Amino acid sequence: MPRIRQSIHGEWSSRWTFILAATGSAVGLGNIWRFPYLTAENGGGAFVFIYLACVAVIGIPVLMAEIMIGRRGRQSPINTMETLAIEAGDNPHWRLLGWFGVIAGFLILSYYSVIGGWTISYVLYTASNSFENATADGVNTIFTNLVSSPGTLIAWHSVFMLLAIIVVARGVKAGLEVAVKFMMPSLFIMLLILVGYSTTTGEFAHAIDYLFTFDMDTLSARPGSIILAAMGQAFFSLSLGMGAIMVYGSYLPHDASIFKASLGIAFADTLVAVLAGLAIFPIVFAYNMEPNEGSGLIFKTLPIAFGQMPGGSFFGAMFFLLLAFAAWTSAISLIEPAVAWLVENKNLKRRYAASYIGIACWFLGLLTVFSFNSLSDFHPLEFIDQFGSLGKKNIFDLIDGLTSNIMLPLGGIFVSIFAIYVMSREATRDELDMGDSIAYKVWRVLVMIAPITVGVVFLHAIGILG
Ligand code: TRP
Repeated sequence: MPRIRQSIHGEWSSRWTFILAATGSAVGLGNIWRFPYLTAENGGGAFVFIYLACVAVIGIPVLMAEIMIGRRGRQSPINTMETLAIEAGDNPHWRLLGWFGVIAGFLILSYYSVIGGWTISYVLYTASNSFENATADGVNTIFTNLVSSPGTLIAWHSVFMLLAIIVVARGVKAGLEVAVKFMMPSLFIMLLILVGYSTTTGEFAHAIDYLFTFDMDTLSARPGSIILAAMGQAFFSLSLGMGAIMVYGSYLPHDASIFKASLGIAFADTLVAVLAGLAIFPIVFAYNMEPNEGSGLIFKTLPIAFGQMPGGSFFGAMFFLLLAFAAWTSAISLIEPAVAWLVENKNLKRRYAASYIGIACWFLGLLTVFSFNSLSDFHPLEFIDQFGSLGKKNIFDLIDGLTSNIMLPLGGIFVSIFAIYVMSREATRDELDMGDSIAYKVWRVLVMIAPITVGVVFLHAIGILG
């Protein structure tokens, strides 16, 4: 049994660094930027509730499956899938699942980097006091000016992408680990400070009500799309479905418990999302803003708070800086699978592999840059009437929706099938190291059901199940 296979890329120094790195991948713009605006777009409590349910019944089991597959294969997802499939006497074409993930990661990073760029530019705005006593309108204008300037967006997008390339180029220990050790705990503390501030605005109770009241009326208006968005967010936020966590798992030492690590990662990730909601929505309500602001939500709300609070320019700059770091530690995981493959199969040095991939992603990112200005009214699917709201989406919205709501869950379906039907029971039990415990059995059942659940959500979303 090739249990002692080694990764050619090195290993995490300890299970803690793995947990930190995987949490670094999971916690990012998805929690603080994407979760609040999707919650608002999808009517609040019902979305939050379904999101939490998806994390528990699909997210955690698939997270464990990905880490387990990665550690068993010890290579890039493409080669891991192929090796494990051959070992199990199955079809080597399972490697295509690895390729599918590489493409998804590529597409996601292309826009992630642009939004990461917004975050960096907000460090400068807050640090230079641009928001002092600003009104909602004033803050709005600053955001609009930023996104309507392609040159500025491209500049920050380039800075962000360069940072991602640098860390990936340095490799597992020197690059990825160092970046996450200090940043994650600091971000968490900043969030607590912000939530503390928001409790004093007077609209905290309203926000709690908005986030945690399951409102059947909103849900029944368009159940398919709300459930799909919530499930997509669960995959996105936990970095599932494209091999990011799998490749991180391939650097995990053998003595670490995958089960405990997964619970820790999922808990931290969910907590950060909920805290972000608790920080943002009280401000939205206190200033009578429309929650449904779209992707600019946090950039139009939090600066108001920073403009009012004592020391706001310091706290604001810190917050956006830490958010940029959180985004950075996520971004690296989006290209790590592709980089690992280039190193393994094309014998490239890490720094070249990271640069080529980063540069290609940078070009793709231009589509997102222009989605906020010159191409904002370009709706590629407009001609297909029956797609309904799809016809109103610009390129950025389409890339985001395609990856999170379709590609990641689809990847999750196949990862689940692989873990249950391709790998032997002995192999999964051995790698998860949970014996024949109840936890192991529950895991098997949940992973077995996951493809069905995801499939049902898909069918709902396209209207087949009403
Ligand atoms: N989970 C990250 C976030 O919430 C984004 C991310 C990193 C990601 N790696 C991923 C999303 C892999 C999907 C797949 O910001």
